[in-house]
Amino acid sequence: MNTPINVLILAAGLGTRMKSNQAKVLHKIGSRPLIAHILRTAAELNPENIFVVVGHQAEKVEEAARRALPPDQAEKLRFVFQAEQRGTGHAVKCASEALKQARGLLVVFYGDTPAVKSATLRKLIAEHETSKHAATLITIKLDPPPAYGRIIRDGAGKFQQIIEQRDCTPEQAAITEVNPGFYCFDIPALLVALEKLSPQNAQGEYYLTDVPQHMLAAGLTVGTVYHEDAHELDGINNRAELAAMWKRVRLETLNRLMTEGVSIVDPDSTYIDASVQIGRDTIIHPQVMIEGDSVIGDNCEIHSWSHLTNVTLGDECTVLNSCVLMDTKLAGKNSVGPCAHLRMHAELAEEAVIGNFVEVKKSKLGRKTKSMHLTYLGDATIGERVNIGAATVTCNYDGKNKNPTFIEDDVKIGSDTMLVAPVRVGRGSVSGAGAVITNDVPPDSLVVGMPAKVIKKLKE
Ligand code: UD1
Ligand code: CA
Repeated sequence: MNTPINVLILAAGLGTRMKSNQAKVLHKIGSRPLIAHILRTAAELNPENIFVVVGHQAEKVEEAARRALPPDQAEKLRFVFQAEQRGTGHAVKCASEALKQARGLLVVFYGDTPAVKSATLRKLIAEHETSKHAATLITIKLDPPPAYGRIIRDGAGKFQQIIEQRDCTPEQAAITEVNPGFYCFDIPALLVALEKLSPQNAQGEYYLTDVPQHMLAAGLTVGTVYHEDAHELDGINNRAELAAMWKRVRLETLNRLMTEGVSIVDPDSTYIDASVQIGRDTIIHPQVMIEGDSVIGDNCEIHSWSHLTNVTLGDECTVLNSCVLMDTKLAGKNSVGPCAHLRMHAELAEEAVIGNFVEVKKSKLGRKTKSMHLTYLGDATIGERVNIGAATVTCNYDGKNKNPTFIEDDVKIGSDTMLVAPVRVGRGSVSGAGAVITNDVPPDSLVVGMPAKVIKKLKE
């Protein structure tokens, strides 16, 4: 089965029931918008094209979509604009011209069903390919049925049509087999059926869900695939459903991590994105949040109230309480915090230590370097075995530019030293408490005062 796969995602609606100024697919689960969850799953099918129908806040949705995928997948995105939201069928019809260029089959689903797994989509595709139907759709059972389209079958159990809840008779409304909104189509047959849609229904919309019955009327066949785990396919229509889905995805992630050997002290209060990887015997304390493409090694310990986003931690790292780490790399055997803030490409080599109330921005610290108290290190490159005294500041901003500070190996920066960048402190030098270093310090020198002056050569 090597038929090329194309995916089409409907994401043009505002999502009226969200009561939001923001398009529904931009609302987040964890640190990622719904559209990102959907696209990452779609990309796992290795499709030729990923069509996305956009309308409300099209530019923002397109940007979120591009950011969701690595470059080799993002180049498969094809955006289709639906100016007016006249229904899910109309949305697909907006893509007709683009679809005429695509080879193979088309998987269609909605941008508001973020928990679907690629294995489920593969099951749909496999059934579609073996049975050679014009359309194949997933069905689920929910009792009582939610406000979904009902699956209508004939006396022999053969699929006949989907009827939207609002168009149902009371007898039809009682049917518990419903449409979660996942379809696989033969593209030419879809294009023909789309032309037959009409908005003669309770919502005055062109329904994608009418496509199967038009195919049957044209003598084609339509198949269904029953999916047991109905809630995997939940659509999000309001904020309560958004929160419920977040919880579901979160617990799934925590269970996966615990299965892989991570200790989660209190799953109820731990928030970890599905994309996060954590090594064995790492312990996550209560009230921790870990987001984005974070990778954490073995035997680490993350203490309460810390928030980590896009971090890479080697083995045996400790993050103490109440730290914020963003875009940060710890090589291994590091300790950070409590109450530290590392951001914008902060990088610690092995065994470097950051203590309380220290901010590290866009700076690199070498092996065994320590900055333990009340310090700001910005745009700094710091060597190995350096000790940074309490209340040190790299004065990196002159009001116009951010300037670099270089501190070479084995330097000792005394408490309350101001490093007025751009500036370099040579290997083995020492600054006295309260020094204001405005000029480069040669190696092996003791500097004191304001502005700091060399008062002694240390090697002599
Ligand atoms: C849809 C299905 C319903 C199914 C349910 C499952 C139709 C007519 N109904 O109903 O059978 O049980 O999903 O969750 O398809 N959209 C557009 N353009 C439009 C209209 C919608 O892009 O003109 C997008 C929306 O942004 C949304 C998705 O399509 O992401 C689904 O639309 P929504 O209004 O939520 O459909 P439901 O009423 O939930
Ligand atoms: Ca919906």
